[in-house]
Amino acid sequence: MAKQTEARSEETLDPEEWESMRALGHRMLDDVMDYMETLRDRPVWQHAPPFVKAHFEGLPPPLPSPPEEVYQEYIDYILPYQLGNSHPRFWGWVAGSGTMMGMLAEMLAASTDSVSGAFSYVSNNYVEIQVIDWFKDLLGYPCTASGLLTSGCSSSNLIGLAVARNTMGGFDVRKEGMQNAPQKMTIYCSDEAHSSIQKAVELLGFGNDSLRRVPVNESMQIDLAALEAMIKDDRANGFHPVCVVGAAGTTNTAAVDDLNALADICARERCWFHVDGAFGAWAAIAPEYRHLVAGMERADSLAFDLHKWMYLQYPVACILIRDAGHHRQAFSLTPTYLAHGEGDRGLTGVDVPWLSDYGFELSRGFHALKAWMTIKEHGTLKYGRLIRQNIDQAQYLARLVVSAPELELALPVSLNIVNFRYTRPGFKDDELDALNKQIERELQERGIAVPSTVTIQGRNYLHVAVTNHRSRKEDFDLFISEVIRVGNELT
Ligand SMILES: Cc1ncc(COP(=O)(O)O)c(C=O)c1O
Repeated sequence: MAKQTEARSEETLDPEEWESMRALGHRMLDDVMDYMETLRDRPVWQHAPPFVKAHFEGLPPPLPSPPEEVYQEYIDYILPYQLGNSHPRFWGWVAGSGTMMGMLAEMLAASTDSVSGAFSYVSNNYVEIQVIDWFKDLLGYPCTASGLLTSGCSSSNLIGLAVARNTMGGFDVRKEGMQNAPQKMTIYCSDEAHSSIQKAVELLGFGNDSLRRVPVNESMQIDLAALEAMIKDDRANGFHPVCVVGAAGTTNTAAVDDLNALADICARERCWFHVDGAFGAWAAIAPEYRHLVAGMERADSLAFDLHKWMYLQYPVACILIRDAGHHRQAFSLTPTYLAHGEGDRGLTGVDVPWLSDYGFELSRGFHALKAWMTIKEHGTLKYGRLIRQNIDQAQYLARLVVSAPELELALPVSLNIVNFRYTRPGFKDDELDALNKQIERELQERGIAVPSTVTIQGRNYLHVAVTNHRSRKEDFDLFISEVIRVGNELT
């Protein structure tokens, strides 16, 4: 009796009453399943009205609220007004759509508040190591490479370029810092490379001036002759070229650089070869399209997302580094309170690396579980078929565009992105730019579909990135007829 009273006198965040929390949990799961099952019938996106913004103003709550009421606020003010990327007609920017198993896996990982990074002998780290091994195998990367799951391709690019810098700098960057570099280092990428490359270059202390933007050819691929000339020029002027970044799928047009040619140039010029394969890397698992990213497997570091074209819940991405030693040297740091060799029953004292030795984060979520469970549920062959389906859908959409007199394709489709615009005879280019921006907004606001817009060669185009496992041909048919209808209406 005394024990019970004592227990009650201490507080916890666990439910006071488990049965009603269990009932709420079941209700949430039922609501989620209902929502996802009927997703196609809902608007893709809804503008959050002013009352929603107003709801999220105010001070922190000093007193408790019933869990059911907190959940009701989620239903009323949060659920309907998000980006909408899980909807079958969401194709803006380049986004993923999530999976049901991924959602459940996130719940399981959260249930034990799983931490990945520290410790070697824990099951969640084995899961992460296994999925990284799967990715090496699927993408044709050597099994001796190291890797790490990250929160996005921006982080993966940052880690890849950090290893490149430390390995190629020619001095002890970690000890001496960039201010003591014997020569100014230079990095090369195409004009079309993603902004995360620039952010990484800035964060790593190279300075944006050191990032040489190489022009692209008519297919939006890095111009190889211009790249070689720039490297030569820089060397002649006392710079130290250290790294070339190739794109396996650019954000604007999904252009894939000539990755074999870049690997050859890097070998000749003694440069690190980093590939940003955020989404395009996954073309490698569709046998019919694997050739599009040939040469990617020769990269010294390969960055890619899992929350875009592997359709997994945000956030999760990966970085692979060919030379595991270089990878570890760039990040490993072991203060006494993080000494390795714990609880390994017989191996005590053996220095088995922790995952935190391969990146800048110590504590990380169990991102691997949703990848592991979803890939096991569906198998890699189905994933390959889905990638092919999306590329074929992009080709289908391009054919719809070409056959509509009101529409104009920006470029031939190289992978899974289609850029096109609505046109009208007699309209000037800047009028068409404004019109297409307006069409984008109308389609979004009316909840019909979410394309985005991009600028290609100075002009605005509607941008459709097909990285969505829920899209069907009929979605593209509807989209095209609505673009034409809205375009006609606006003109
Ligand atoms: C080519 C490319 N690289 C890198 C990124 C950044 O990835 P994340 O948004 O996962 O950080 C993106 C995002 O769209 C991308 O398209």
